[in-house]
Amino acid sequence: MPALKRLLRARLARRCSAAFCLFWAACGAAGGVFFFLAHGGVLLSGRCTDEQSHRILARLCLDYRKGALTGDLCEDLCVAQKLIYKRCLYYDRGKKVIQADWRGRPVILKSKNEIFSSYHHLGFLEEMEPQGIPEAELLLMVALEIKNVLGLELPNNTVVPLWTKGRGPHWKAQLASMWSLLQQEEYIYFSVLQDFSKHVLRVIGSCGHFYAVEYLTAGHTWQKTLFSVEDAVGVSFSGIQSKAKAITEIAISFLDMVKHFDNDFSHRLHLCDIKPENFAIRSDLTVVAIDVDMAFFEPKMRDILEQNCTGDEDCNFFDCFSKCDLRSRKCGAERANNNLQVICEKIFRPWFSPNFMGSAVSFPLQLQLQKAVQDCAEASTKDTGHHQSHSSHSLSELYHLLRASQNELQKSGSYPHQIHQ
Ligand SMILES: Nc1ncnc2c1ncn2[C@@H]1O[C@H](COP(=O)(O)OP(=O)(O)O)[C@@H](O)[C@H]1O
Ligand SMILES: [Mg+2]
Repeated sequence: MPALKRLLRARLARRCSAAFCLFWAACGAAGGVFFFLAHGGVLLSGRCTDEQSHRILARLCLDYRKGALTGDLCEDLCVAQKLIYKRCLYYDRGKKVIQADWRGRPVILKSKNEIFSSYHHLGFLEEMEPQGIPEAELLLMVALEIKNVLGLELPNNTVVPLWTKGRGPHWKAQLASMWSLLQQEEYIYFSVLQDFSKHVLRVIGSCGHFYAVEYLTAGHTWQKTLFSVEDAVGVSFSGIQSKAKAITEIAISFLDMVKHFDNDFSHRLHLCDIKPENFAIRSDLTVVAIDVDMAFFEPKMRDILEQNCTGDEDCNFFDCFSKCDLRSRKCGAERANNNLQVICEKIFRPWFSPNFMGSAVSFPLQLQLQKAVQDCAEASTKDTGHHQSHSSHSLSELYHLLRASQNELQKSGSYPHQIHQ
């Protein structure tokens, strides 16, 4: 299906270097290569520099002053100096991710592309005065774009968080800016899910093609506790027991997120790029998905997976895969693994190392937890016919064991009061 191939190409292009993509093209879409691209691809491109990032923001402000773009944060960024650059967090070929300080509050600025003009522009803006275009027609255009990205029919009010309000003197720049944001799948996902989920990033505002989201404590593979709890909560977590308590709460929040993405929307939400760096925690230790470039609702997931194949390895899409039906030479449309299984495999398993909670939680309980995580991670390699029921068993078992850990910690009197302020 050409549209899907385009989607795949576009997303891969942002995650791998040109040379490596050529290598990939030559090799074909082998599963192992997909995996390597998702996780090793970024290693091949360099980290951003302050100079580069200053240049990007200077260009943004130049376009703002020329009247080409606008947004509620432009004045603070380009004139009042109340949105101030701090550091950059992106890889060269990835999307631009910049940390800034907005009126004393840390925020993150994100954009898929560096320059405003590299987004498709609305042709009619050049040809006619946008004031003359009926609002209903513009709204329809936005609704179609959202539908196209999410692969879903949504109620009319879904457009509201993405719709630019008020036909001011800068209406043309407003429309052009909104259109650049609508070309960023991640912005659409965050905006649409704002009021429905505490597990996605809050959008704070925008300037042109850059949107600002809340700054949170992101995960890191090298961090023993995965997230720096001290950074998130703002107090010292010196005791092993306070750490164990925080780890338990974060792990429970991961399970809440899995349950929520599986059940609480009209369609299941699949996460296909699961790694510590793509999640963060708020100060109340809620887990938040901060990179949803590879998140898809069920109908879109089915379209992506249903490709021609000669073996199972052709049916892998990053962390989401299905099986190849060798008779019809088509990958199954239904995902064969699920969010919980990948979280167990890539987040819980390395995190819950032997005796990871020290003496704070009894050894037999930690052992049971590790075994449950192992079992959950291996679910999809077992009989796939039963993996859904196996997974719901894993989910309840993990909830049960993590709550048992909380009870042990509470009994031993080590429940830190700092966490819930
Ligand atoms: N809201 C945020 N708060 C704190 N750090 C963030 C936030 N968003 C992104 N980051 C950091 O920037 C990195 C890159 O952002 P991400 O959206 O994952 O971009 P990419 O698509 O290039 O992987 C993340 O791994 C994380 O370390
Ligand atoms: Mg990422």
